[in-house]
Amino acid sequence: RIAGPCGLVIFGVTGDLSRKKLMPAIYDLANRGLLPPGFALTGFARRDWADQDFMQVVYDAVREHARTPFRQEVWDRLAEGIRFVSGTFDDPVAFENLTSTITDLDRVRGTGGNHAFYLSIPPGAFPTVCKQLARSGLSAQSSDQWRRVVIEKPFGHDLKSAKELNRIVNEVFPEESVFRIDHYLGKETVQNILALRFANQLFEPIWNANFVDHVQITMAEDIGLGGRAGYYDGIGAARDVIQNHLIQLLALTAMEEPVSFRPDDLRAEKIKVLSATKPAAPFDETTARGQYIGGWQGGQKVPGLVEEGGFAKDSTTETFAAITLEVNTRRWAGVPFYLRTGKRLGRRVTEIAVVFKRAPHLPFDSTATEELGQNALVIRVQPDEGVTMRFGSKVPGTTMEVRDVTMDFGYGHAFTESSPEAYERLLLDVLLGEPSLFPVNDEVELSWKILDPVLQHWENSGKRPEEYRAGTWGPPSADAMMARTGRHWRRP
Ligand code: BG6
Repeated sequence: RIAGPCGLVIFGVTGDLSRKKLMPAIYDLANRGLLPPGFALTGFARRDWADQDFMQVVYDAVREHARTPFRQEVWDRLAEGIRFVSGTFDDPVAFENLTSTITDLDRVRGTGGNHAFYLSIPPGAFPTVCKQLARSGLSAQSSDQWRRVVIEKPFGHDLKSAKELNRIVNEVFPEESVFRIDHYLGKETVQNILALRFANQLFEPIWNANFVDHVQITMAEDIGLGGRAGYYDGIGAARDVIQNHLIQLLALTAMEEPVSFRPDDLRAEKIKVLSATKPAAPFDETTARGQYIGGWQGGQKVPGLVEEGGFAKDSTTETFAAITLEVNTRRWAGVPFYLRTGKRLGRRVTEIAVVFKRAPHLPFDSTATEELGQNALVIRVQPDEGVTMRFGSKVPGTTMEVRDVTMDFGYGHAFTESSPEAYERLLLDVLLGEPSLFPVNDEVELSWKILDPVLQHWENSGKRPEEYRAGTWGPPSADAMMARTGRHWRRP
């Protein structure tokens, strides 16, 4: 589907996200013919730039980060609609300038009064910008022109602040005009969770507590936090990605079948399953958190967190977090969902592993099945996108011996189509007004409600996060937390 006449205003165009993700995604969408011919892109920031300067910034970002080949004619058409407004977020004059820029774009580019405002700015600045948008009339929509706001996480720091943030945003934009970005929902492999579950007969009958032993959701990264202290110190791994990406993955894995794929039906099921989810206690035994110290990764010596520029020497920010969640529904009662994430781990991998119970009876000599593990279905979110099924198979030979084997589906082999970047898909959906892949305020608040007790426990414990060496799979307490229940983490 191609977006109708519209424009996009980005606040915070000098940030990393704009340069590495948003600008290239806009170009890629234009290149794929998915933007209207008169599309307009306006940057808003403090820099004293002219349109030409901003255009150069966009051009450089596109040349460096776009996924599709560069085509001069596509760029030229896009460039004609690029504008820049200089100002601070609290300056009413800058918003007057923005208003006249947009009015002018409606005239010369035919954007039809339809504009999305992308707040790629620190959440502390959301209230100011929302108020300015309201005061200058920019947020006002009518039956023939839409206005939308796009916000990036963090959606608050805890339940209380998330509610306050939602209140402020909803004062200016009705909920259906608010698009909260959780870029994991823009990933093909994440959208495929619902296709896998609900387009097939094979999986759903065993997708429940009768057959499933537990679920492990892992988001491991090999990168460290150099250069990100400003955002990350004091936030930590749980707030950074468990509250949003990992809990969303849990919701898609655990939810019931939606009545339809319409946004409201989909959200209703996500909200239902999140309402039934809570952290398993006691937290000293069901959670773990760690902070990386220097070590080796990919043959290179890397520093520990507190040696990275900008982090306090006694920073207690966790760079690894693992929690146990229970989903109290008939389908899932008694099945633990283990979520873990960390920086500077063994390798970059995100996966959801549904681990099944052992067969109730094994009619073999006990030696025959010594090497047999539990069946598992692993949704490989990234980087090697696909699905793996693990099961036992007879080892060729004259005796009966059973060993684990895997059956693989890989995107690279199965499809010739390439996956769009998550931001491409999400930006297009914003411009189309298609809300399915954006968490609503209730979802955001529910995920904070799930996480808050654990965060509070960690804070009140007065304990520092446990150290783990860069390049390993996290602190010993993460393994201990699994061992306590007779389980272990997968080594992807
Ligand atoms: C972001 C987090 O939301 O996701 C980062 O703030 C993290 O800390 C990033 O590195 C990972 O995204 P991806 O798409 O590379 O898995």
